[in-house]
Amino acid sequence: MSRMLRNSLLTVTAAGALAAAPLAVSHLDDEQMMQSYRQSYLALLGLNFGPMVAMVKGEIPWDQERLEAFADDLDTLMDVDFLRGFPEGSQRGTTRAKPEIWDNKDDFADKYADLQKAVASLDEVAATGDRDAIAREVAATGDACKACHDEYKAKDYLY
Ligand code: HEC
Repeated sequence: MSRMLRNSLLTVTAAGALAAAPLAVSHLDDEQMMQSYRQSYLALLGLNFGPMVAMVKGEIPWDQERLEAFADDLDTLMDVDFLRGFPEGSQRGTTRAKPEIWDNKDDFADKYADLQKAVASLDEVAATGDRDAIAREVAATGDACKACHDEYKAKDYLY
């Protein structure tokens, strides 16, 4: 085997090992699938909503095109089955989800439905480019996040 071929095979093998490794450090914890599921989803909400808040507050420059894309993606995420991330048996583990969620499933679902409505209207208004109206919808969406967090999300990991 030529030295060059051997070196490139070694490189490929090393890359293969690296590609397998990230599972251990990624969000996907195979002992806690549903905790991973809901937290990954919520991280996506945060990473799409956060920049809109920052634009409204003037912390980053207003970029109408990106704002519309964030609103659009956030609305698309509203089609994902979020409530599936809270099955019986997933109460504990690495989580900030308060146990009250499982005692008040209807209220929890209502609070998620409120968010879905707020985001649908944010997505609609985002396309108009009317900054005051957008700021109001961003605030209303933030209120819907907060309403659920106040009741059902702990500040720190619980267990
Ligand atoms: C219906 C309830 C509910 C709504 C609405 C809600 N959240 Fe949450 N959120 C939670 C719960 C519960 C947790 C904790 C999940 C866990 O640790 O297992 C959480 C955690 C998070 C986290 C931390 C995720 C992580 O990496 O652990 C972020 C970020 C977040 N939410 C953002 C948002 C944003 C942004 C909105 C609004 C656009 C929102 N949430 C709306 C219930 C909600």
